[in-house]
Amino acid sequence: MDRQEELFAFLKEEGVSSDLLAQVRQFRAAYPSGEEWEYRIANPASFYYGKDVWEKALAVLLAGENLLLSGPKATGKNVLAENLSALFGRPSWDISFHINMDASFLIGTDTFDGQKVIFRPGPVSLAAENGGFAVLDEINMAKNEALAVLHATLDFRRVIDMPGYKKIAVHPATRFIGTMNYGYAGTRDLNEALCSRFAVLSMPLIREEDLTKLISRRFSDIRPEFALQFARLFYDLQKKAEHGDISERALDLRGLLDAIALVHTGLQTGQALEMCVTNKTFDAYERRLVSDVIAARLPQDLRSAEVFQL
Ligand SMILES: Nc1ncnc2c1ncn2[C@@H]1O[C@H](COP(=O)(O)OP(=O)(O)OP(=O)(O)O)[C@@H](O)[C@H]1O
Ligand SMILES: [Mg+2]
Repeated sequence: MDRQEELFAFLKEEGVSSDLLAQVRQFRAAYPSGEEWEYRIANPASFYYGKDVWEKALAVLLAGENLLLSGPKATGKNVLAENLSALFGRPSWDISFHINMDASFLIGTDTFDGQKVIFRPGPVSLAAENGGFAVLDEINMAKNEALAVLHATLDFRRVIDMPGYKKIAVHPATRFIGTMNYGYAGTRDLNEALCSRFAVLSMPLIREEDLTKLISRRFSDIRPEFALQFARLFYDLQKKAEHGDISERALDLRGLLDAIALVHTGLQTGQALEMCVTNKTFDAYERRLVSDVIAARLPQDLRSAEVFQL
């Protein structure tokens, strides 16, 4: 079974609406992938857990709308975006937005090929012309002037229209998926005009039973009791953050998964969690609170032979 079929099977098992999945099949049949961009079709290493989020995202994309995934760090925004382009069988362009980007980076620019001036298309133009899924990653990080060029692309006009260049019609299979983070330093709001062109999906934290499954899948040799304890640790930290005892810095699923990988490689649990979780906060008092939470959940000196069935 190829990876896309595995993803369909996973979603069926997760209970995602069979009607929505059937519509995705129809979409794929209507827009078969061409050979030219085959290499851009994602082969996701991991799957996104969360039935409700899946159903909302599928409905938005099937309706032809743009999807904005907004939420705290490590809530699976990029994993979901990648999963979606794979499920729909479309090539994807992943575009990291930053403060210095301008319209010509997104759309394209004239360059000299040695003999004549040619238009070198940017990632948004390529995705638009070729029925791609464009992932506009951290879309809120770019300046408004750079984003204005996307207004006509993202609304009912579905064109890219830059003065002096040809007008590009957006292919009917093209979708735009924005991701945006909020809550920590350096994040900005998304301006209203742009936000209005997306259906906004607010990404929840992964549920406990899903996190336990995720850990067991990613580390197939982890002992089940430890998959559970690591998952519970995440929610212990979440409760502390919810009560305002600690900041959200240490509430980092990416860090937790990295820590498990370090234990697998050979570090003790305490060392791994210190580097990947505790030390993400730089306040000494808060760090102590975080290590207390960790110590209450897991012995500090476990090694891979105890945590994994090697
Ligand atoms: N619901 C979920 N299902 C599957 N994986 C998840 C989920 N939530 C978080 N993860 C895991 O968290 C890690 C981070 O995921 P990802 O990079 O997609 O997050 P993100 O929301 O884009 O984060 P950031 O805002 O920091 O860029 C990955 O290892 C991913 O597998
Ligand atoms: Mg991300």
